[in-house]
Amino acid sequence: MILNGAGAKKIRPREVFEGEFELPGDKSITHRAIMLNAGAEGTATITHALMGGDCLSTCQCMRALGAEIDIDGTTLCVHGTPRFRTGVALNCGNSGTTMRLLAGFCAGKGIEAKLFGDESLSARPMARVASPLSLLGADVRTTDGHAPVYVSPAPLKGAEIELSVASAQVKSAVLLAGISASGRTAVVEPQKTRDHTERLLAAMGADIRTEGNRTEVGRSRLKAVDVCVPSDISSAAYFMALGALKGKTLCKNVGLNPTRTGIFTAFDRLGVRYSVLNRRVSGGEETGDVLVEKSPMHGIVLTAEDVPAMIDELPLVALLCAFAEGESRISGARELRVKESDRIRTASELIAALGGICIETEDGFVIRGKKSLPGGDVDSYLDHRIAMTAAVGLVASERGGSIRGAECCAISFPGFFRMLDADAPRGREA
Ligand code: S3P
Repeated sequence: MILNGAGAKKIRPREVFEGEFELPGDKSITHRAIMLNAGAEGTATITHALMGGDCLSTCQCMRALGAEIDIDGTTLCVHGTPRFRTGVALNCGNSGTTMRLLAGFCAGKGIEAKLFGDESLSARPMARVASPLSLLGADVRTTDGHAPVYVSPAPLKGAEIELSVASAQVKSAVLLAGISASGRTAVVEPQKTRDHTERLLAAMGADIRTEGNRTEVGRSRLKAVDVCVPSDISSAAYFMALGALKGKTLCKNVGLNPTRTGIFTAFDRLGVRYSVLNRRVSGGEETGDVLVEKSPMHGIVLTAEDVPAMIDELPLVALLCAFAEGESRISGARELRVKESDRIRTASELIAALGGICIETEDGFVIRGKKSLPGGDVDSYLDHRIAMTAAVGLVASERGGSIRGAECCAISFPGFFRMLDADAPRGREA
């Protein structure tokens, strides 16, 4: 990484951005493949796993619980663990998925644990996971609604649970506890969120069925299953956006689970030209190659129903709107305020720092697009998605600039800047 001044990453603007990209493995699927296989019977090989900071936190926590995990590059061998260690403190780092899924996992396995994390994770809401788990009889206590979260063994009894927030993390925690509860457990979500847990549980032999937004599980023993992790659409999105802004990109073997492809809804409305090639199914998940070409974009409207399928891409979508002709309005995205940073505030400040116009609303953004943005020196707010959105904005800007705290992108995308720089023939730099 080229460092500038006090650890800032310098980004040069590019006239044209073109290339073929093999992105790292999906973060959500990697977390689940590690945790569920560690709690299953048998041994599983996980290939093309994401070895970013968040998934390493899951690995470390599972090891601290006694799971045996061999790591060879992006291939993991996870051995099912007959007896977990109890009375342990588990460091979830920056990872909300690790902490929330582990709350359900530990409750289900009768493990006594303290779950803690870094400053950002300690500021995120945890009552949303403790409350539904308590309805199953679990003993899960937060610290004023936040981490540390304390889980103690308690008998679990199935229940019908209606979630008040659309959160795949909370849904997954309930399902992980539910498969160990007596009777049946159902979870009803206000909007459909990513369903990787449901798919993996089904592949591992769990008694599970989903109808609409309601998923029901019975007591189940899981059998280890090999997982070939597709590339993460949330990571690919940055390179797709660069294709739309600056040339042509092909992202290969991208996970296209329909609960994750909201970026295409945004592309359709913005007028971005893209196509999906080589559609196939691998390990129970749809995948394909995504080709995106430079496109004139116009302002869009996105509302609450559009949000869950593009929740992690919204800062990037807001950035694309800053380059689109006319006004865009994004609403119903209040959940962004409780991510690794308050992404409504940080994405708005980022776009303003790049020279764009983005007005923060209570639950989203109003963006007035410009043909081009000057660029500038910006902050990552130590949020990986903001750092990578900043990089896209600077590559597409007139003068480029620098990103403070850019290294945080390793949380979900180690090697992001290497890939960004890989196709930088000198003649093409502005
Ligand atoms: C995730 C779910 C989403 C997403 C996060 C990963 C998951 O969070 O923002 O990056 O793996 O379940 P919520 O479910 O809390 O919206």
